[in-house]
Amino acid sequence: MEAGAGDGARALLRILRDLPGGLRAEELLAPHTTFRIGGRAFALYEPPTEDALAEAVVRARSHGFPWRMLGGGSKLLIPDRGFPGLVLSTAGLRSWHEEGEFLRVGAGVPLARVARRGAWALAGIPGTVGGAVAMNAGTRHGSIAEQVVWVQALLPTGRVHTFSPAECGFTYRDSLFRRLRLPVLAVGLRLQPCQDLAPFLRERAKSQPLGLPSAGCVFRNPPDGRSAGWLIDQCGLKGARIGDAVVSEHHANFICNLGHARASDVLELVDHVQDRVVSEFGVWLKLELEVVGE
Ligand code: EPU
Repeated sequence: MEAGAGDGARALLRILRDLPGGLRAEELLAPHTTFRIGGRAFALYEPPTEDALAEAVVRARSHGFPWRMLGGGSKLLIPDRGFPGLVLSTAGLRSWHEEGEFLRVGAGVPLARVARRGAWALAGIPGTVGGAVAMNAGTRHGSIAEQVVWVQALLPTGRVHTFSPAECGFTYRDSLFRRLRLPVLAVGLRLQPCQDLAPFLRERAKSQPLGLPSAGCVFRNPPDGRSAGWLIDQCGLKGARIGDAVVSEHHANFICNLGHARASDVLELVDHVQDRVVSEFGVWLKLELEVVGE
């Protein structure tokens, strides 16, 4: 953590300490990510309600502190130097209301729970509902946008707005919420009839390195229909390693953390993969992984 961090952490504690829920200063973020990489935040706040989250964002903003949301931490690379501001965890937003084929869930509900209840196309995707909506998470069988009925998100003014599916601006692995950095608070979903998820989970376990820390697929698939994993594999990059960051032997679109990988190792490996793929295939692979601070 850089010089001045202690002052930043103290100032954040001062402006947030009367809010309900857990507030921790100088929290190490690596354990909050599936990559297990990243330095400290000035503060990590876990609001127990949507109102508390909204109030914390308004206060951080009015005091000029950078802030960002943290769901399951599954598509995130946090720099080694950490995050000089407030990280808001959605872990406390776990409301769950079912009415017939409709489900209303808080942003912090694990996606796996929703997949089991009636979203089989999302089986095996880590993370939370809020994060999944923000990045329109999906598999080859479909994405969450197909089941969204509405999304409640926080506007920059501090007001909560309910977005219709058309207003959500969903595209491949993206949405208005990600583009405009609007925190997702709650989501209404249409459930599908229940199915046995075991075949989907087996398929994923067979083709992906689930045993090592990673952030899932690092690159988006290019629009020409080819798979980023296939392109990287064809360049002979499986096993390419910088520090403890390695291109998975199992699926080439995964970078795994062998134990002590640093964010800088991952970024160097990302550059190396992009360079090789563009020189062999003329395709520039875009990141699906969100690099904090970029
Ligand atoms: N392939 C290779 N080598 C590899 C990886 C893949 O040759 O190292 C080939 C496969 O054999 C297959 C093709 O590439 O012929 C496609 O591979 P796969 O079925 O694994 O699909 P993908 O396009 O690589 C997408 C999603 C995954 C999702 C799977 C399964 C993206 C970027 N990735 O992967 O999502 O799990 O389909 O539905 O859209 C994620 O988002 O974290 C993620 C992993």
